[in-house]
Amino acid sequence: MKTDKTDILALLRNSKDYVSGQQLCDRFGVTRTAVWKVINQLKGEGYQIESVSGKGYRLLEEPGDILSESEIASRLHTKWAGRKVYYYDVTGSTNNDAKRCGEEGDPHGTVVVADIQNAGKGRRGRGWQTLSGTALAFTILLRPEFVPDRASMITLVMALSVAEAVEEVLEGAEDAVTTIKWPNDIVLNKKKICGMLTEMTMTPEMDEIQYIVVGAGINVNNGSPEEFQEEIRGTATSLKIETGRQVSRAELLEKVLLRFEENYAVFLETLDMSGLREAYQNHLQGVGNEVRVLDPAGEYTGISRGINDRGELIVEKEDGERVQVYAGEVSVRGLYGYV
Ligand code: BTN
Repeated sequence: MKTDKTDILALLRNSKDYVSGQQLCDRFGVTRTAVWKVINQLKGEGYQIESVSGKGYRLLEEPGDILSESEIASRLHTKWAGRKVYYYDVTGSTNNDAKRCGEEGDPHGTVVVADIQNAGKGRRGRGWQTLSGTALAFTILLRPEFVPDRASMITLVMALSVAEAVEEVLEGAEDAVTTIKWPNDIVLNKKKICGMLTEMTMTPEMDEIQYIVVGAGINVNNGSPEEFQEEIRGTATSLKIETGRQVSRAELLEKVLLRFEENYAVFLETLDMSGLREAYQNHLQGVGNEVRVLDPAGEYTGISRGINDRGELIVEKEDGERVQVYAGEVSVRGLYGYV
């Protein structure tokens, strides 16, 4: 029934004219009653579907933001990213779910999406909870064939893909500036809208990558800053808060996965960021400005000179020395309260 619903929804979405009940029956090999049930389910989920006797069904309007297995599957036209999707109304952490998929043999590109995450994981052991109807929390499972020291760049590839997808869904929204804070925070009008967590599991022999999971949490339809936990209220925002627009999370996911598929192919050609460097750098916040590097061996400031081909941040110190920063936190002047 799930596949029928996905297929019927996709067909209605792509047809400008009415689609008769008989056409749907013939196309999907189901009964009239089954079609009628699917149409009623879709109506119940908020899709406005007109039924005219003698003509059939026509999709008049889609709900503003609905996240469900059919909604996601009916939109995806990717080659491998998200060809298999697990959708949960509630889960602990999509990264943990995707790791389980990794252990259980799910294919490269499997995606886990959830409406609510009640034990979501952020970087450095922090939490990342998502409330119903607000965030797009998803994780993609990758089974790469490259060597482990290339893996850290995958998170930059995803950061670029999310930034590009956000720009696409916000097209025409005035004053909405999407940037990347190195390496992978996505920033809208100088506040964070998305964080990422990449985790890698090695084979038992520890010589090859078994799988990588890349998880992203995008604040989409949070209506006001009060919806964020107190400690991030001053630095976090959402697409809706910044633009007033409600955005379809399924549409955003579709765009992210399309961009990721393309960018990942470019990355694979050289196994470094050379082919994506310009696009990444065009989004990079603070190039030419002062940054503070929170190195465990001692903090220092310098001028950001963008990234090198390995995705490391080049920071020029006051004495002219150029440091390649490959890990650790970096504060960018003008962002997140660093003045
Ligand atoms: C950060 O601290 O900035 C990273 C946040 C990463 C959150 C996402 S939400 C989807 C995926 N599942 C998780 O448990 N974490 C990541």
